[in-house]
Amino acid sequence: MAAPPGDKALQFNNGTTATERNRAVGQAITRLVIGNWKMHGKLATNQALLEALAAGSMSLSGQCHLGVCVPFPYLAQAQAQLQGSALSWGAQDVSAHLGGAYTGEVAAPMLADFGAQWVLVGHSERRAMHGEDSALVASKAQAALNAGITPVVCIGETLEQHDAGHTDAVIADQLAPVLALGPQALAKMVFAYEPVWAIGTGQSATPDQAQAVHATIRERLAAFDAADRPILYGGSVKADNAAGLLSMPDINGALVGGASLLAEEFLRIAAA
Ligand code: PGA
Repeated sequence: MAAPPGDKALQFNNGTTATERNRAVGQAITRLVIGNWKMHGKLATNQALLEALAAGSMSLSGQCHLGVCVPFPYLAQAQAQLQGSALSWGAQDVSAHLGGAYTGEVAAPMLADFGAQWVLVGHSERRAMHGEDSALVASKAQAALNAGITPVVCIGETLEQHDAGHTDAVIADQLAPVLALGPQALAKMVFAYEPVWAIGTGQSATPDQAQAVHATIRERLAAFDAADRPILYGGSVKADNAAGLLSMPDINGALVGGASLLAEEFLRIAAA
């Protein structure tokens, strides 16, 4: 695992290194599994899916927290159906602005009106198809925090960047404006490492590959007193590969796309 320069020299009184200590912190974090429905859904099918997930999430309590990020129009449905259940809900994007002449945008206080607990920011599909850069992603994260919503900050490298060995540099660049928001803001965030080449391809990162990147992310967070933040892995997580990924010390949960639309599969991931 690549540790930042100088880290190995940092010893604590009890003889543990910062890396070991951060890892212990990572292992103590309650598992969080969030579904990203993307642009899928229909009132009738959502109802059945949410019913099944709400019922299934009751038996998970304590060992894993389950959430779903639904398309904006279905937030009201999620709120009506999930209020009082163990399943939380949120959105997949948010405006960096508080309100005003921003046609088509949705502000964080609007998400809060519908009880959203989570909002994805910086998903690779938004970065790639809507030109969102990391500075904008950081502004969106701050807007969410201002409304009392937890931003799930998504980061990850493309296949070209991966093959060129640039993963760490890309992650560092994507994180920089978010880290600049400071420890107080970071203390309320969740992070998701989603290698772009693994999203929707059926080709997940291996547990070792993902762990290595998660460990470097945790090191970067630790420099801002945020080593205890959940770091989720996303990218072709399925019931049959979840156990391997989720058993890694720095992987605190999963951000699940396709498999989150199938109640049984999604619940098996959460229980893996
Ligand atoms: P996937 O998507 O699980 O379908 O690969 C993950 C995501 O985009 O969050």
